[in-house]
Amino acid sequence: MPEQFSADFSEEEAVLGRDLKDLEQYGSKGTAYLGKVVLSSGEKPVLGRKVVVDLAKPHLMLICGKRGAGKSHSLTVLMEEMARLDPSVKMRISAIAIDTVGIFWGLKIPRKDTAELEGWDLVPEKTDARVYVPKGQLAFYQEKNMPVDGAFTLKCSELEETEWMALFKLKWTDPEGVLISRVVQRVREKIGTYYGIDDLISAAKSDDEAQSVAKQAVVNRFQVAKSWGLIEKEGTKILDLAAPGIITLIDVSSYRQTLGTEGIKDIVVALIGKKLFEQRMLFRKEEEIKLIQENRRSSKMPLVWLLIDEAHMFMPRDESSIALNILLEWVRVGRQPGLGLILATQRPERIHPDAISQCDIFISHRMTSQPDIAAVGALRPSYLHMDFDKLFAEMPRQQGFALVIDDNTEKTWMIKTRPRLSWDSSVTATAFII
Ligand SMILES: Nc1ncnc2c1ncn2[C@@H]1O[C@H](COP(=O)(O)OP(=O)(O)O)[C@@H](O)[C@H]1O
Ligand SMILES: [Mg+2]
Repeated sequence: MPEQFSADFSEEEAVLGRDLKDLEQYGSKGTAYLGKVVLSSGEKPVLGRKVVVDLAKPHLMLICGKRGAGKSHSLTVLMEEMARLDPSVKMRISAIAIDTVGIFWGLKIPRKDTAELEGWDLVPEKTDARVYVPKGQLAFYQEKNMPVDGAFTLKCSELEETEWMALFKLKWTDPEGVLISRVVQRVREKIGTYYGIDDLISAAKSDDEAQSVAKQAVVNRFQVAKSWGLIEKEGTKILDLAAPGIITLIDVSSYRQTLGTEGIKDIVVALIGKKLFEQRMLFRKEEEIKLIQENRRSSKMPLVWLLIDEAHMFMPRDESSIALNILLEWVRVGRQPGLGLILATQRPERIHPDAISQCDIFISHRMTSQPDIAAVGALRPSYLHMDFDKLFAEMPRQQGFALVIDDNTEKTWMIKTRPRLSWDSSVTATAFII
């Protein structure tokens, strides 16, 4: 065992993400059981004390690792743990996970095999989570008997001109961009906030300044957007998504294959992120006033955890993304109003550097690509006395092992994440026909 690891043979749980004061006050209440400390070298190392991670306060967690190393698994374990928190803490927390691959629904089904769990004194269990799919895709999921709980829509009036343009990959200087911007402004002035894509189409058609080619192009684009079944007059209420004690899985995977729909996932994350941010800022103020007046902390809106797999898609380093700016706000100032972010990526080299430099809990499964290892090198805290290269080289090659760096306790650990309790829907794409 390399010396800089905080491994010892203590039986007590190691609590990550908590300062000494919180540790004394709360112990390990409100934490997630992530895994166990690795105590020896080799492919089948001896495992020691439990490692638990604070969920009761917002953190920026970054989960890295090459493909198949266990990132989505770690996200799943964290969600399983959120659902199992002590009710007093659980009811103050809500979680929204953006599912780009369509795998998190497996959480709702207990796993079938027990052997792996037995070694950890765990048993298969399902996790209470709600799966939401875009309204236009609901019938497809229901036909396939996927465990879906409902549909979600984005509120048309919440898309700003810039977002429409980004969605259609248009620039301010394009005639279509100019028209879209004018159309959105005019409809907003005329109707207010309760309008749909049809209203935008009519406004584009009756525009008296644009040329007919531009008009037709814009109408076509709006019609395509309508066919997504995602953007409507009435949007899903964000407070319904961020409900206390509830885990909501937003499945945007159905837009994966269709050409020209890359921006859709982005707009979903951007609008959810933006709404949560705005709401949470308001609630935070309300909470503070209550605290001053009544000396108690209470608010309808809980702390929010947003979990994003394949996060480099939403927060790219050198490309533009509709969601980037709002996610950067989460990263930079989100913790103050109670917004926690858990990002997973196999390409740290491609993710915005702030997502790396601002993270306070870093969980990295094995990485082999030099540029990716170099990118997380920016983290290198003073209490880590070893190169990342060497650490990854020493990490067992099996899935689930991870290096954890916790800025709160200034400790580093080599861990093995615990097996999941729920069905692993990433293994087989046809798992839902069971
Ligand atoms: N700690 C673990 N114990 C057992 N199996 C694991 C563990 N971590 C990951 N796996 C398995 O490894 C496979 C790949 O993991 P996954 O999380 O999908 O990788 P990634 O998201 O990094 O590409 C999955 O089948 C997963 O269940
Ligand atoms: Mg994955």
